[in-house]
Amino acid sequence: MEERLRFLLRYAILAPSSHNTQPWKFRIRGSTVDLFADKTRWLRVADSDQRELHISLGCTVENLLVAAEHFQLSHQVDLLSQQEQDHCATVSFTSDSEPTGSRPAVLFDAITERSTSHSAFEDRAVEPEVLRQMEDLCLEPELQLLFTDDHTTKRHVDELVVRADALQFADPEYREELGYWLGQGVFGQSWLMSKIGQLAVTYVNMSKKVARDDSKLLMSAPILGAIASKQDDRVSQIRSGMVYERVALMAASHGLAIQPMSQILELAELRSELAELMPVPDMVPQHTFRLGFAEPESAQSPRRPLSEVLI
Ligand SMILES: Cc1cc2nc3c(=O)[nH]c(=O)nc-3n(C[C@H](O)[C@H](O)[C@H](O)COP(=O)(O)O)c2cc1C
Repeated sequence: MEERLRFLLRYAILAPSSHNTQPWKFRIRGSTVDLFADKTRWLRVADSDQRELHISLGCTVENLLVAAEHFQLSHQVDLLSQQEQDHCATVSFTSDSEPTGSRPAVLFDAITERSTSHSAFEDRAVEPEVLRQMEDLCLEPELQLLFTDDHTTKRHVDELVVRADALQFADPEYREELGYWLGQGVFGQSWLMSKIGQLAVTYVNMSKKVARDDSKLLMSAPILGAIASKQDDRVSQIRSGMVYERVALMAASHGLAIQPMSQILELAELRSELAELMPVPDMVPQHTFRLGFAEPESAQSPRRPLSEVLI
């Protein structure tokens, strides 16, 4: 079983994470996998409340479960159930009972296909039937998956994105943190381009260009999506990550492009303004993204080897 779980973790680590920080550590104990947050990789400035850290952890849990179902392993997930420091989830597996499987089979093949899009989207609508299939993936009662194609709403969200970019890029600590991760080559650029990117981001306030580019990306999207929760707690954040990854895998299986856009949520005041735009009063936005059609990314982003994330 340990060998099988090690194999499944190769799928878990392909999950998306903010700035590709991959803030996870795994421990295999017999037929159980424990997942811990690796807080040395937490984005202290951009993600001061650790919301994105926990969403990223949810994404890796989801990949693990999709892979387990594909290989017919039953699983039981317990979130934040142990006292150990930075414990996030424990997943127990069995192969001798009826496999637990509520996830569509197409999600598995998409694990190795999925990537985050960084291009402007084509002027092409997303089929309502595909959005319905995605809505059916959000089974968590405390969460709501929302989509909009409304132009006025998009304009309002765009205004928030432009303000968020201006505020973040005016902050030298934000730029230094982003520069550090760029310099690590997390987005797959060559060593030289990573270092040039790090210097440029750290020392030059490019807020106007970033805002212009982000605005173009956002307004090109036929669909904006959000995952909102009733409570703003850790379990809701981990589950939001699980739902996002399900949606991202489903998107990949339909040849759709997807990109989280987190800058609004990283600033408390703008996050509240976004909450007011949503049609669900008393719910908080946890994760926002754009969805549409685009050329595939030229390359996939790199991952740390499994040996580095296994305790
Ligand atoms: C919680 C979270 C927030 C993210 N926010 C952004 C974002 O604001 N902008 C962006 O371009 N990508 C964002 N991403 C995508 C990551 O940058 C991406 O997953 C990572 O670089 C790995 O690349 P991949 O998704 O192509 O495998 C986010 C991902 C997660 C899980």
